Amino acid sequence: MSDFISNFWSNYVAVASLLSILGCVLLLWLTARKRVASDADNTTGHVWDEDLRESNNPLPMWWVGLFILTIVFSVGYLAVFPGLGSFAGTQAWSSRAEYQADVAKATQALEPVYARYTPLSIEEAARDPQARAIGERLFMNNCAQCHGSDARGSKGFPNLTDADWLHGGAPEKIVESITKGRVGVMPPAAAMVGSPDDVKNVANYVLSLSGEPHDSVRAGLGKSKFAACAACHGIGGVGNPALGAPRLNDRIWLHGYGEAAIVQIINEGKHSAMPAQEGRLTEAQIKLLASYVWGMSNPSTTSATSTGTP
Ligand code: HEC
Ligand code: HEC
Repeated sequence: MSDFISNFWSNYVAVASLLSILGCVLLLWLTARKRVASDADNTTGHVWDEDLRESNNPLPMWWVGLFILTIVFSVGYLAVFPGLGSFAGTQAWSSRAEYQADVAKATQALEPVYARYTPLSIEEAARDPQARAIGERLFMNNCAQCHGSDARGSKGFPNLTDADWLHGGAPEKIVESITKGRVGVMPPAAAMVGSPDDVKNVANYVLSLSGEPHDSVRAGLGKSKFAACAACHGIGGVGNPALGAPRLNDRIWLHGYGEAAIVQIINEGKHSAMPAQEGRLTEAQIKLLASYVWGMSNPSTTSATSTGTP
């Protein structure tokens, strides 16, 4: 209702609701007053099936009582709860407020669980099996739909278990990625390169950087054109975490592998977004998620110490 620019529809709904309640009262009153002409034997004179007569009895009192009760209830309900147009009701109840109160209650109940990990660093938490277990459950509920239940990602969604990072794999960078979200914007770059043939040449040069199968004549021709790309991807395609520009000199492909995939991304560009979790998850939850993710991409640190080495 708050989306409308005037109160018209709000008032319309409120008046329609009140009129229909009033209609019920009138109906009850009128039918109680009106006498249907009846014969001396209290029948209406209608006869069916030869001998089935319609009596003219008043409504049973319990039935009338229920009718009155529903009218009283609906007036009371509309006074207390939202229902009359945009009138919020005397209790100002809303499903959103109730949900938020539930979340706040659950967060408070879980506080002692998370408090144990406050003094630990992200690396230390990654070595704590229980912290990892909590991190894993949080991951399954909040992240697996995009990054996969094994966190290995899929096309367009980065693998979080390897050492190849778009935005940086240091613990504080991972926290930042989760808290604030990330965007990766590759602009359509064909115009910077030249003709469709030049685009194909650059694509082959990109493939040559990681030793993928490529056409070496085309790669040689494309090398100089890569200068436009190096602004973001670095000279030789080493990547740039500050821009979220991926390394192009490894065999890890976020958006598909091969000449066709690279030509497509040069022509069309790409816009990827990791949604910010700030406000959805608490700081303590984000910390355990970051330590779970960091631990997966640094398996030697977690396995070495979980066997007892300090
Ligand atoms: C709606 C899909 C989606 C969800 C849900 C999601 N992510 Fe992401 N995430 C992405 C995408 C897409 C990227 C890559 C952004 C880019 O291309 O720069 C990303 C990037 C990241 C990165 C940075 C990776 C790098 O290489 O630097 C981390 C860390 C991360 N996500 C962790 C998480 C965690 C933890 C959760 C759960 C709280 C989560 N993500 C939930 C889509 C998602
Ligand atoms: C303005 C910065 C910018 C420029 C210029 C740019 N890129 Fe990108 N490129 C990106 C970003 C950021 C991504 C990651 C997109 C994402 O997060 O989904 C990307 C992704 C890619 C990918 C996909 C990598 C993968 O792992 O799948 C390829 C290939 C690529 N760029 C090639 C090029 C080539 C070739 C050029 C030059 C013609 C170029 N880029 C120019 C920023 C840039």
